Amino acid sequence: MSVQQNLITAVASPAPEPPRNKVTVVGVGQVGMACAVSILLQDLCDEMALVDVMEDRLKGEMMDLQHGSLFLKTPKIVSDKDYAVTANSRLVVVTAGVRQQEGESRLNLVQRNVNVFKCIIPQIMKYSPNCTIIVVSNPVDILTYVTWKLSGLPKHRVIGSGTNLDSARFRHMMAERLGIHSSSFHGWVLGEHGDTSVPVWSGANVAGVNLQKLNPDIGTDADKEQWKKVHKDVVDSAYEVIRLKGYTNWAIGMSVANLTESILKNLSRVHPVSTMVKNMYGIGEEVFLSLPCVLNSSGVCSVVNMTLTADEVGQLKKSADTLWGIQKDLKDL
Ligand SMILES: *[C@@H]1O[C@H](CO)[C@@H](O)[C@H](O)[C@H]1NC(C)=O
Ligand SMILES: *[C@@H]1O[C@H](CO)[C@@H](O)[C@H](O)[C@H]1NC(C)=O
Ligand SMILES: *[C@@H]1O[C@H](CO)[C@@H](O)[C@H](O)[C@H]1NC(C)=O
Ligand SMILES: *[C@@H]1O[C@H](CO)[C@@H](O)[C@H](O)[C@H]1NC(C)=O
Ligand SMILES: *[C@@H]1O[C@H](CO)[C@@H](O)[C@H](O)[C@H]1NC(C)=O
Repeated sequence: MSVQQNLITAVASPAPEPPRNKVTVVGVGQVGMACAVSILLQDLCDEMALVDVMEDRLKGEMMDLQHGSLFLKTPKIVSDKDYAVTANSRLVVVTAGVRQQEGESRLNLVQRNVNVFKCIIPQIMKYSPNCTIIVVSNPVDILTYVTWKLSGLPKHRVIGSGTNLDSARFRHMMAERLGIHSSSFHGWVLGEHGDTSVPVWSGANVAGVNLQKLNPDIGTDADKEQWKKVHKDVVDSAYEVIRLKGYTNWAIGMSVANLTESILKNLSRVHPVSTMVKNMYGIGEEVFLSLPCVLNSSGVCSVVNMTLTADEVGQLKKSADTLWGIQKDLKDL
C-alpha cells in the first residue's frame, strides 16, 4: 500500500461533474494576466483556463499561478493552446490581439485584429456554446461587434468592456479633485471607449447633489473652473500610461474582474459596458457602444434609458457613425 492509500480512505467515488463557474481568459499578455489575477483574487470561479498561441509563455504563466494555489481559492487552473481546455466555460474573457502601439489610434488596429478573432471565436463557441463573452481587446467596440457576428450568440451574451475603465478613471480623477473616495463620486462616461468617449456631465453627482446645478457651465468651454479638463485627462491618461510603461493592465484587469463578479453572481449591477445600441437614441446601425447596462447571469439583461442632453445624444450618434463607417468595410463577417 502506498502512503496515499494508507493515509486516505475513500468514502465515495462520485462521477466527475463539470465546473459551475469556469472562466477562460484568452490571451496571456499583460492585460490577460491582470484580468486572470484579479478574477482569481476575488474567488469568482471554480476553474480557470488560459489559452494563447505562445506555448512557453502560456505554460509559464499557468505554473506561476498554480504555485500560488496556497493563497487562492480556485482549485483548478489549466492552460493549453488547444481550446478543448476551455470546455464548459460560463464566461470567456477575450484579451488576445495585436496591441496598440505608442501613438497608434485604436481604430488603426481593426483589420489586424479581425483576422485574429476569426481563429479564436469559433473555437470558443465549439467548446462553450452557452457562454457569455467579455471582449477586452481594442478597438473594443468594433471587436465586440465582430465577436457577436462570428459567435452567433444572442446580443445580450456578448459584452465589450467598453467605457467601464474610462468611467473608473473619470471617477478617480473627479473624486481626487473633490477630495473624496472614487466610489462616492457618481459619474458616467459612455459611448465609444477611448478618444471620443462621452462624459455625462448632466448626471455627475455626489450624494445626489448634482454638480451641474452648482455650476451650470460644468463640462463646457465657458466653465471658469475648466472641469472639462478632467475628461480630457481621462482620454490622455491611457496614452500617458502606455508612454511610461509600454501598456496598461492593472486597472483594466480590476475592472474586468468587477464585471465578472456581476455576471457570475447574478448581481444585476449597472455598469457602463459596450452593448448593441441599434434603435436606441435614434441610432440606426448595428454598432456596439457603452450605455449603463444591468448585468446578471444572462449577460446584459437590460439597458438604463439615461436622460441625456441633445448634445450628449449627438456625440453618441457621431461615434456610432464613425464605428459603422469602419465596420461596413470589414471583410468575411
Ligand atoms: C446550452 O443551453 C441549451 C438550452 O438551455 C441546452 O439545451 C444545452 O444542453 C446547453 N449546452 C451545453 C453544452 O451546456
Ligand atoms: C465593483 O464596482 C462597483 C462600481 O461600479 C463598486 O461599487 C464595487 O464595490 C466594485 N466591487 C469590487 C469587489 O471591487
Ligand atoms: C438572478 O437574479 C434575479 C433577480 O435579480 C432572480 O430573479 C433570478 O432567479 C436569479 N437567477 C439565478 C440563476 O440565480
Ligand atoms: C428614454 O425615455 C424618454 C422619456 O423619458 C423617451 O423620450 C426616449 O425615447 C427614451 N429613449 C430610449 C432610448 O428608449
Ligand atoms: C437576467 O435578467 C433578465 C431580465 O430581467 C431575466 O429574464 C433573466 O432570467 C435573468 N437571468 C437569470 C439567469 O436569472
